[in-house]
Amino acid sequence: ETALADVLVLFGATGDLAQRMLLPSLYFLDADGLLPDRLRLVATARTEMTREAFQEAARKAIAARAAPDGLDEKVWKRFADRLDYVGANAADAEGLAPLKAAVGEARRPIFYLALSPSLYGRVCRALELSGLAGPEARIVLEKPIGRDLESSRAINATVGDVFSEDRIFRIDHYLGKETVQNLMALRFGNIFFEPLWNNQTIDHVQITVAETEGVGERWPYYDEYGALRDMVQNHMLQLLCLVAMEPPSDLQPDSVRTEKVKVLKSLRPFTRADAAMNSVRGQYVAGVVGGQTVASYETERGQASDTDTFVALRADIANWRWAGVPFFLRTGKRLPERRTQIAIQFKSVPHSIFEDAAHADLTPNRLVIDLQPDEDIELLLMNKAPGLSQGGLRLQSLPLSLSLLHTYSGPGFRRRIAYERLLLDVICGSSTLFVRRDEVERAWEWVDGVASSWTDSRMAPKPYAAGSWGPAGAFALIERSGRAWYD
Ligand code: BG6
Repeated sequence: ETALADVLVLFGATGDLAQRMLLPSLYFLDADGLLPDRLRLVATARTEMTREAFQEAARKAIAARAAPDGLDEKVWKRFADRLDYVGANAADAEGLAPLKAAVGEARRPIFYLALSPSLYGRVCRALELSGLAGPEARIVLEKPIGRDLESSRAINATVGDVFSEDRIFRIDHYLGKETVQNLMALRFGNIFFEPLWNNQTIDHVQITVAETEGVGERWPYYDEYGALRDMVQNHMLQLLCLVAMEPPSDLQPDSVRTEKVKVLKSLRPFTRADAAMNSVRGQYVAGVVGGQTVASYETERGQASDTDTFVALRADIANWRWAGVPFFLRTGKRLPERRTQIAIQFKSVPHSIFEDAAHADLTPNRLVIDLQPDEDIELLLMNKAPGLSQGGLRLQSLPLSLSLLHTYSGPGFRRRIAYERLLLDVICGSSTLFVRRDEVERAWEWVDGVASSWTDSRMAPKPYAAGSWGPAGAFALIERSGRAWYD
């Protein structure tokens, strides 16, 4: 109770993230009675605007999210009563004066920086100088924290001068997704996965994060980062860590995060030879996605670029549990479908008792965890196909499946925005689902190795048609080890 925040200050409140995700998430938390009664929300941005004007814009943004049910007027009234707006320039202490007046006597403020990371350092200093960053203030940072190890260290150091690590909440919104948290429930809430969760039984792991959207208007940010830094460094490595980590002894922030860091430290560093052998970079050219003809990345960008919009990698974890079990990762824009999926491929049974013809049907077990678009878990098991046949049994692989949508849909059920969970945790001061400093930095260290293997071998992105599964090399990458992507 005592750790509950009393005011949440949202910087960048007129921006896309705040309008599309953060304000609606806060509203939904309020609707569910999860916001502390005395929590005030102070939205801020450089634009001068009245509280009423801001609320009107926020109401629209929230209503769009609340469709088809629409806003609940009673909830909206309560929400609007707590929501204030202050125009302020966060880059220096003087500019923060109007905000200071709005925050008033609050002891446990949260400062959510939905701003460009290039401003993190300056805003933290300004918060300190203005006296807003008291001993119990918390700060929330969005990715990207830097563009490589060096720049992320610099940001972490500046922020760390003002806020102690336990008060810094680095967001990776994937950790707020239900199915991502469900990975922990699945692994550690069931007896039968953990004994099999190792190189004795698992052949390999595939992690796919496929998007149909292109980069579009976001190119000024994207062009500087590319898929490796935009997706692999954070979301994909987080998924890998949750699959690969040792069982933590409890769900305390440091118990879980220490286990994740150990995985990151065990990732075999990329060498120059790995660039060609174990990675593929791609960039989309014009093509067709979902029946629509779409432009190339370079057309969106307006000029030639060597930014990757697709990456496939083979990662190896050098420890006892995972030695010899490759983790294949792939992510890209303008792929044929939206799909975020983790597939755990088990090995074959050591000996088949089935006859020749049937033996060919003996498919090794696979656990498939779908995060998006639907949340499903499937365990592929061998079954006897019904009926009679001459000479032995006919086998068939069938899924034991758990559709979270079907199980939980019904009156009052709503698929949550990942930010709801994360905002609630910041308000309560719980940092298990946030990324610790060493975690960000270890992830950058490994990603830097991949990036420099590309630079050293002058590896430019290979073109792939929008609407395809990336360059042909992505198939070769996995086939080289005798495996294939599951499509
Ligand atoms: C963001 C990336 O972090 O994640 C985007 O910057 C990407 O490029 C997005 O589209 C994907 O998130 P989600 O939740 O839609 O899978």
